[in-house]
Amino acid sequence: MSEQDAWKRAAAKAALEEITDGMTVGLGTGSTAAHFIDLLGERVAQGFKVQGVPTSEASAAQAKALGIHLPEMHDVETIHVTVDGTDEFDSQLRLIKGGGGALLREKIIAGASQRMIVIADDSKLVDHLGAFALPVEVVPFGLPLTAGAVANACRYVLGRDIEMDMRLDKDERVFVTDGGHYILDLKAEKIEQPEALAIALAGIPGVVDHGLFLGMASKVITAGPDGVKHHGGVN
Ligand code: 5RP
Repeated sequence: MSEQDAWKRAAAKAALEEITDGMTVGLGTGSTAAHFIDLLGERVAQGFKVQGVPTSEASAAQAKALGIHLPEMHDVETIHVTVDGTDEFDSQLRLIKGGGGALLREKIIAGASQRMIVIADDSKLVDHLGAFALPVEVVPFGLPLTAGAVANACRYVLGRDIEMDMRLDKDERVFVTDGGHYILDLKAEKIEQPEALAIALAGIPGVVDHGLFLGMASKVITAGPDGVKHHGGVN
């Protein structure tokens, strides 16, 4: 295991301490969340009783293989806590997520959760969001029109033109999300007003959602060379 992977696992282990018997737990997506699911699976194998609500098909498959009970989505009424990774976070616990393409389900599940615990290695803490390209999930219909509207919204909010890429998969084909949508990755570099950009993007009809998770994280747990740290965490 690489050093960075060991930090991700250490953050996941710290989050596991906040899970108690009987909880319904939102299961994030990505390499850090995968450590959490793996550790949760170990606890379940020892008799711990939880049920999981996965944020992607990949996380569902992992959890299922580990014997974590996954209720039907339409039976889920309460999610006590979601544990998920992030691509960036700032001192106000604002996040950019969606590097793994699961932002829509991640936001639905985190938004419905009583708490969202974010886990990461400490490289994810940034002074300003935006160095990581901001994913925007869009419907395929009318893509060029939606991309134009996204460019206009960015110009209006950020006061400059930005580059954007259509997300491709590892075979260089257009990446398709679990919901059947495409992703535009916005290279904003520095997002001075994440709230204003979030509102502008959300108002575009062809935009399904975006990777700005604002006011959602209850705490962020990081791990790095200086050990495990808890950021925020009033609840
Ligand atoms: C997936 C996500 C991930 O949580 C994010 O990309 C972080 O991934 P990793 O833990 O592999 O760095 O938002 O859509």
